[in-house]
Amino acid sequence: MGLQSRHLLGLEGVSKDDIHLILDNAVSFKEILKRPIPKVPTLRGKTVLNLFYEASTRTRISFELAEKRLSADTVNFSKTGSSVAKGETLKDTIRNIEAMNIDMVVVRHAAAGVPLFLTKCVDAAIINAGDGMHEHPTQALLDMMTLREKYGKLGGLKVAILGDVAHSRVARSNIFGLLTMGAEVMVCGPKTLMPYGIDEMGVEVSYSVDAALEWADVINILRIQLERQGKGLFPSIREYHTEFGVTKKRLEKMDKVITIMHPGPINRGVELDSDIADSENSVILKQVTNGVAVRMAVLYLLSGNEGGEESS
Ligand code: CP
Repeated sequence: MGLQSRHLLGLEGVSKDDIHLILDNAVSFKEILKRPIPKVPTLRGKTVLNLFYEASTRTRISFELAEKRLSADTVNFSKTGSSVAKGETLKDTIRNIEAMNIDMVVVRHAAAGVPLFLTKCVDAAIINAGDGMHEHPTQALLDMMTLREKYGKLGGLKVAILGDVAHSRVARSNIFGLLTMGAEVMVCGPKTLMPYGIDEMGVEVSYSVDAALEWADVINILRIQLERQGKGLFPSIREYHTEFGVTKKRLEKMDKVITIMHPGPINRGVELDSDIADSENSVILKQVTNGVAVRMAVLYLLSGNEGGEESS
């Protein structure tokens, strides 16, 4: 049994069964990653292009590691140093690379909709590694894997997403995925950082961090995306930290344990205190670890190889 779509462009509209399938496969791949030789021949003979037009540390490295653990051949494209500087279009770039025989493309781009556009340019399977303010589906999948690992389920879990919701593809993918899996979702941040139409997405909305902490089992804290914002959405970084920062003082007032998540990169001292990021209730590095297993699962399920070569 494979996924219903041959691409992963987002989690909007992805079924509960498909999310379960990805997470279950990720659990199997995580076991493989613990072996002395953490490598399987599943994608031998397949070639994956990592097409990154925007900066990345975690997503790019974990996709590349996932491809290598699955024995795929990988090629990496960065905008810097490419012929984009000479004016080559995205369509020409992808069609020229595909002419060298590419099976799958992992793409990150600052413009929403680029992964969908690529599905119309080439035959390769397309995986969205983050497109503008639209979606970042593998991030939400690894977040859900981390929560399922900790709580044994996603249904009924109360997850508050805090911060710059308006500019966050991570927030959108988490909202779609978590609601599909039966979790309750709250978003919290300044009104100026809430997207238009958030009320219609099936989430609770709060403008008080203390109220969100009171409500939540889990908080997923978002970075202030200064690179995507216009000016003047909040008075200053210092004021943002005072009003919306997740601080030790705020958490100590809560009579319960709250799981701390962050997709990274973290702005320490802005959206959360440094010691909270490193505290025992933080699963931030577990999220990163699970990113490799989740991306192995997605690559495998979209490769057309399921049920074919031995996967473990
Ligand atoms: N979470 C995430 O997407 O991190 P990178 O931008 O480093 O890939």
